[in-house]
Amino acid sequence: MSDVPKTMDRNLAMEVVRVTEMAAIASAKLMGRGIKNESDQAAVDAMRKAFDMLNIDGTVVIGEGERDEAPMLYIGEKVGNGTTSAAPVDIALDPLEGTNLCAYGKPGAISVVALSNRGGLLNAPDTYMEKIAVGPAARNAIDLSQSATHNLREIARAMGRSVSELTVVIMERDRHLDLIKEVRSAGARIRLIDDGDVAAAVATCFETSGVDVLMGTGGAPEGVIAAAAIRCVDGAFQGRLRFRSKEEEARATRMGVKDLHKIYTAEELAAGDVMFAATGVTTGDFLKGVRFFHEGCETHSIVMRSKTGTVRHITATHRFDKKPM
Ligand code: FBP
Repeated sequence: MSDVPKTMDRNLAMEVVRVTEMAAIASAKLMGRGIKNESDQAAVDAMRKAFDMLNIDGTVVIGEGERDEAPMLYIGEKVGNGTTSAAPVDIALDPLEGTNLCAYGKPGAISVVALSNRGGLLNAPDTYMEKIAVGPAARNAIDLSQSATHNLREIARAMGRSVSELTVVIMERDRHLDLIKEVRSAGARIRLIDDGDVAAAVATCFETSGVDVLMGTGGAPEGVIAAAAIRCVDGAFQGRLRFRSKEEEARATRMGVKDLHKIYTAEELAAGDVMFAATGVTTGDFLKGVRFFHEGCETHSIVMRSKTGTVRHITATHRFDKKPM
């Protein structure tokens, strides 16, 4: 019998980054060509293939969609090499988070995966989620049931700053016009982004990113992925599902969501032992993008574990002449 424990082994953290590296390289090859579906498909294909190298008994719980709409990395798909020693894990993934960013060569596209022990990740329905995210210094200061103004004052107090010294990231969407107005009148600085609220949420946990708070409504699956990352570095995240139709509400109920208005904490969205890995596709606040050179490329990734709080920044050089992709 194998003596390898069937839990998430710490070495897995070093292995899992290969999955995001492969997806990032594949999509970055198509950067700026205006072909978002192809860029996404390239990332999906590469990530699916890379999962076969991992010694996990993985189940995708947040992926590319339902089985009938996504042939690969669909919800419920089993991934990993499935050996008897493999750890049973649940996986939330987005091979290309920010498809438009990649397709138009804009900053902030990443490839991302989060792993937990089985049952740790909320099976979030494909709807919207209202979100607030901050770094460790303000972890006890957020409350999504309160106004943006209230939250900004509390965050500033916790960080020992004035509200005017905070930078809030918000996705540029019509649905955020009132939020933007309120944040401006509270006096905070705003960084508007086109897409990619996972990277923006995680960036709040790193002082050098220059952003302090993420506010606004984005994808619910992305909320779970961001929560997993934020758990690893003791930041804070809260999310509340926002449905676009009665059908979405009904689907969420079928998926097991009991309270449709619940405010989830990071711990409720991503519980237990969690690992997170991301690789930059295009350069953003959070990670540098893939840089190609004559015979290969360089990738920049981050790998984190909730159990130890270790954050690893990994710069890798990939040689296409030795390892064709
Ligand atoms: P994709 O990678 O699927 O294009 O998602 C990008 C994204 O900007 C997410 O980061 C965000 O949560 C969501 O889309 C917002 O959705 P919408 O574009 O409908 O506002």
